[in-house]
Amino acid sequence: MNFKMVTAAALALCLGASAVFAAGEPQVVRQDLMKKIGGSLGALGAIAKGQKPYDAEAVKTALSTISASAKDFPNHFPAGSETGFETEAAPAIWQNMADFKAKAAKLSTDADTVLAAMPADSAGVGQALQTLGAECGACHQPYRLKR
Ligand code: HEC
Repeated sequence: MNFKMVTAAALALCLGASAVFAAGEPQVVRQDLMKKIGGSLGALGAIAKGQKPYDAEAVKTALSTISASAKDFPNHFPAGSETGFETEAAPAIWQNMADFKAKAAKLSTDADTVLAAMPADSAGVGQALQTLGAECGACHQPYRLKR
């Protein structure tokens, strides 16, 4: 084995190990929750735009996922998780934790409200999307770093 290969092998080992280690880290958990929220909003968007047919089950799943993930999201910002694992969490979160939590709670409750009323067609999904979609930016603007 030449030097390059040894380095590559060592690097692969390190990356593999950090991936296992990273799985339970708060930065990773909260990013995964946001990925779920993003995927669910995308699913609703596809229905609202008519790229996918209206499907009540898919709408329910997306709304429940947004509600549950947004509710759990602020639980994953313990002291010491301000940096690392490519987090985009802004320092402002820890300075305004109550406001940050309120914004997450609002997204969760609003998703529940939409779910309780249950949009009956793609136009209804579009309306819900306007409400929920605005809340992404309202929190990302102050609390998510731009990379
Ligand atoms: C309460 C605040 C808040 C709300 C509301 C919110 N986000 Fe986020 N979002 C964040 C923060 C903070 C991060 C960065 C997390 C990190 O990197 O540790 C983030 C990151 C993300 C990411 C990147 C995840 C990754 O791959 O690392 C996506 C996608 C995302 N948000 C989508 C959404 C969508 C879609 C909505 C609206 C339905 C939304 N967010 C609402 C705070 C919020």
